[in-house]
Amino acid sequence: MARRKKIYEGKAKILYEGPEPGTIVQYFKDDATAFNAEKKDVIDGKGVLNNRLSEFFMTGLTQIGVPNHFIRRLNMREQLVRNCEIVPLEVIVRNYAAGTMSKRLGIAEGTQLPRPIVEYCYKDDSLGDPLVTEEHIAAFGWASQQDMDDILSLALRVNDFMSGVMLAVGIRLVDFKIEIGRIFDGDYQRLIVADEISPDGCRLWDIETGQKLDKDVFRRDLGSLTDAYSEVARRLGVLPKSNVTKPTLIN
Ligand code: TYD
Repeated sequence: MARRKKIYEGKAKILYEGPEPGTIVQYFKDDATAFNAEKKDVIDGKGVLNNRLSEFFMTGLTQIGVPNHFIRRLNMREQLVRNCEIVPLEVIVRNYAAGTMSKRLGIAEGTQLPRPIVEYCYKDDSLGDPLVTEEHIAAFGWASQQDMDDILSLALRVNDFMSGVMLAVGIRLVDFKIEIGRIFDGDYQRLIVADEISPDGCRLWDIETGQKLDKDVFRRDLGSLTDAYSEVARRLGVLPKSNVTKPTLIN
């Protein structure tokens, strides 16, 4: 029996109508995809970890005053969030070269960038999320100049927060992607961080060993994705105690 109406099913999440107007329920699936869904698998427990991790990051952002869609976690796989109109851009922030930037510009993976670099991709799977410039964004009306100023400021604040949180647990935030939502309060509109923040959309490297603790483990067949995400959750103190098998000794 369907409890509620499904609004949308994406690669990693399902969205349902929320219990109150203006809310939706995000259900985190175990499905993993890469290379525009050419590589697919079901990774046991990934959805549970990403639900928890996204809650952790969004709650921290709220605490430092970065507006976002998160309201509360409902259960292992679901969270209640504000319904918003998603700006059709993948907003990427890079601190170190990796992935497509390394390929495009011939910069060795892991090279520290002179400053954080923000890139925009147009959200369209059928086109493979192409990189676009602010000229495209303005000309095609995907976001206004004011929106772009706000998006840049949100992206850099998220970067400072995430970099600091990760650094504190010995992880380098190489790059990440966020999505931005538009919400309306009467005639007034504002932009907030939406979607999810999880290792699915970040590059996270152990500072000491360089070990990858993000979706590259899946993209590049480097081992167990659940182990990698569990390690991130464990270091951040996000995993419930019963799941912590190896306590860390601090000298
Ligand atoms: P990028 O290096 O451009 O692409 P790829 O992941 O294919 O090598 O990605 C930069 C970061 O942004 C990386 O951590 C993955 C994330 N990202 C997404 O999660 N989804 C996306 O659609 C895009 C374009 C990037």
